[in-house]
Amino acid sequence: MPLRFPLTATDTPSTPEKIAGIHADPGFGVYFTDHMAVATWRKDGGWSDDAVVPYGPFQLDPSTAVLHYAQEVFEGLKAYRHADGSIWLFRPERNAERLNASARRLMLPELPVDDFLTSIEELVTVDAAWVPDAHGGEASLYLRPFMFANESFLGVRAAHQVTYSVIASPVGPYFAGGVKPVNIWVTDAYSRAGKGGTGAAKCGGNYASSLIAQYEGAEHGCSQVLFADAGTGVNTEELGGMNIMVVTAGGELITPALTGTILEGVTRDSILTMAGELGLTPVARPVTLAEIFERIDSGDIVEAFACGTAAVLTPVAEFRSHQGNHVIGDEPGPRTMQIRSAILDVQYGRADDVHGWLRRVV
Ligand code: COI
Repeated sequence: MPLRFPLTATDTPSTPEKIAGIHADPGFGVYFTDHMAVATWRKDGGWSDDAVVPYGPFQLDPSTAVLHYAQEVFEGLKAYRHADGSIWLFRPERNAERLNASARRLMLPELPVDDFLTSIEELVTVDAAWVPDAHGGEASLYLRPFMFANESFLGVRAAHQVTYSVIASPVGPYFAGGVKPVNIWVTDAYSRAGKGGTGAAKCGGNYASSLIAQYEGAEHGCSQVLFADAGTGVNTEELGGMNIMVVTAGGELITPALTGTILEGVTRDSILTMAGELGLTPVARPVTLAEIFERIDSGDIVEAFACGTAAVLTPVAEFRSHQGNHVIGDEPGPRTMQIRSAILDVQYGRADDVHGWLRRVV
């Protein structure tokens, strides 16, 4: 039976003034809407107890499995308000499929794609007032679906009870400086994911393990960290929370190929698909750190950017490492800005949706 996520509305809805105040300075992931979607999976009965309920804390027993063994996966997508007031999602089916791929890796249950879409659409519909206008920039409602082992049990095995939920947060740019180019720390001390590990899954553990390198980078004036592959330390993989791409003087758009240790970003895939339409040649292949740094130093790689749902496209100013720095520049590159505008224009309904990527909610 399909899930419906029926609404139990809050008795204390936020006032338009409160929402307007949050929209004026939302930050990223700081404020949350009035409701959240929930559902429970039980080993002996499948999914049930689906609902949209007032936003609020979960009550978790101290022995809840996720608190001990991190059996958890999540997603990130956004709802965009178009100029006519309508609200749209961007390729949400991809997030549904990736959630299930992550769930399989973490021994969590799959959620049917239609149920995922219903959970998002019911939540966005009831909290539609929280979806900001684009504000000439990239304001949106960030949606965070997640699933975790919610069984009181300390044995190490897949949980027999799992909670699925979606929360929503009005957001501005992920990086406080907006499209100001960021510095990237290239860590040689830490790895993000190994062969056969969870690198391709969107699970909290990957992000927890990136934090120490992220802080190492912050000590060197960097706001993201770049990881090499754990096996050889030679190949470029991804950043702590997003994918990486570079642009050559000859018009190639190069990004590391998916190897099983890299997250299959929806933004990454969308950019690769759009690149040809923008006069770039998309190339997904193994790419060494040495190649990137040599070609930056020789002037052959002219731009680099981080990409992800949260970051959209954020230009890279400089890669820094213990071995030296490789400087691209303090100004966002024209190709980066062109791709950035092209994807935002589709998301905000300012350009034709030629790929059929948008799905209307309201
Ligand atoms: C996203 O881009 O949606 C992510 O999940 C990345 C996270 C660093 C916010």
